[in-house]
Amino acid sequence: MGDAEKGKKTSIQKCVLCHTVEKGRKYKTRPKLHSLLGLKTGETPGFSYTDANKNKDRTWGEATLMEYLGNPKKYIPGTKMTFTGIKKIL
Ligand code: HEC
Repeated sequence: MGDAEKGKKTSIQKCVLCHTVEKGRKYKTRPKLHSLLGLKTGETPGFSYTDANKNKDRTWGEATLMEYLGNPKKYIPGTKMTFTGIKKIL
């Protein structure tokens, strides 16, 4: 495992406070992340998003995700994801 792998693991732990990342797991109180790529913003079934999140109308991919996570509140003004942002995760 290189340094990149290590970094990835550490950062994802910041997400699991609120999100489920493993496949097949149930929701916590937040949208799950493992099946997110390829979906549009606010499209995970069963989660009640803010309108800001739903209306963003972007498809999640690596680039969009990185931009979002760098500063969620800037990318989606009005989001209820209270996360300050990180530089690198994937
Ligand atoms: C404090 C709780 C919390 C933490 C920590 C958190 N999130 Fe979130 N996240 C949320 C909430 C709440 C939403 C829904 C936002 C909305 O509806 O406005 C959300 C939404 C998202 C979305 C948009 C989902 C979609 O379907 O449009 C992504 C992507 C996301 N989070 C990724 C992450 C990642 C990656 C991390 C870790 C680096 C993280 N989040 C950490 C609470 C959190």
